[in-house]
Amino acid sequence: MIKLIWNYENTMPDSSLFRSGTVDVQIAHKAFAGSQGKLLALTNILLTIDPGEFVCIVGGSGCGKTTLLRIIAGLETDYAGVVALDGTPITGPGLDRGVVFQEHRLFSWLTVHDNVAFGLSRLPPAERALKIRHYINLVGLNDFEYEYPHQLSGGMSQRVAIARALVGSPEVLLLDEPFASLDALTRMRMQQEILRIWEAERTTVVLVTHDIEEAVYLADRVVIMSTQPGTIKKILPVGLPRPRDRADREFVRIRKSVHDEFFDPGTIAPMVPNGSRSVS
Ligand SMILES: Nc1ncnc2c1ncn2[C@@H]1O[C@H](COP(=O)(O)OP(=O)(O)O)[C@@H](O)[C@H]1O
Ligand SMILES: [Mg+2]
Repeated sequence: MIKLIWNYENTMPDSSLFRSGTVDVQIAHKAFAGSQGKLLALTNILLTIDPGEFVCIVGGSGCGKTTLLRIIAGLETDYAGVVALDGTPITGPGLDRGVVFQEHRLFSWLTVHDNVAFGLSRLPPAERALKIRHYINLVGLNDFEYEYPHQLSGGMSQRVAIARALVGSPEVLLLDEPFASLDALTRMRMQQEILRIWEAERTTVVLVTHDIEEAVYLADRVVIMSTQPGTIKKILPVGLPRPRDRADREFVRIRKSVHDEFFDPGTIAPMVPNGSRSVS
């Protein structure tokens, strides 16, 4: 049996205390059923993300980053704890949270315009058209509105995915390794783009990455996770003005601090066979 380390039900503050875009994460544990018993994916995750804050979560493969993001997205609801947006517990997906996955997941049979429009059908047509245009412009794809996904580069496809995630005017944008499959130069350009979009929209952003430099370049705070089971090891504020210079001495110092935490024994666990993290 896993013991709850705190009584999360009594620690949720009154929803009237929250400003729009506050994410409150209190996960005692999240387990998956595996062939050799339960696999404990996350434990003791306590994190409050402020409205408009840009938080990056870094951690090695299998430390539960995607699981954590899926819980905030409302795609994963079977866990012990509570995750709330503006004081209201999240019980499923909603337009108040936009999600971008590592692979763009665009509908291949729809144009850029129709991919972005997907999910907005309940709005009056004029308002809908304005919103779609706004977000296609925001991600810099105005000349590609009627192209299909197979006609786009990887970076352009991720721009469409970002526009689609933002078009419902979410309070929180959740991105799961969104630039991982892009080449190094496109990746750096997309990092600048996501900051520009965040500055324009002022949504709360939670971006998962395994790239330490990306996290320090983007985030207000870097959350470092350790494995076996996945938990928060350290939260480091970055505190540098933007745009950030990757060669700046202070940037390099912070990147090294994250690196040292990350590679500290205990953060990256040794390779083990599947199931060795079983709990009962
Ligand atoms: N649907 C699932 N069923 C069983 N195990 C899962 C499932 N999703 C994730 N896991 C396991 O939970 C752990 C965390 O996975 P994940 O959140 O994808 O990690 P990360 O994104 O950090 O690589 C891994 O050991 C993974 O194998
Ligand atoms: Mg993942």
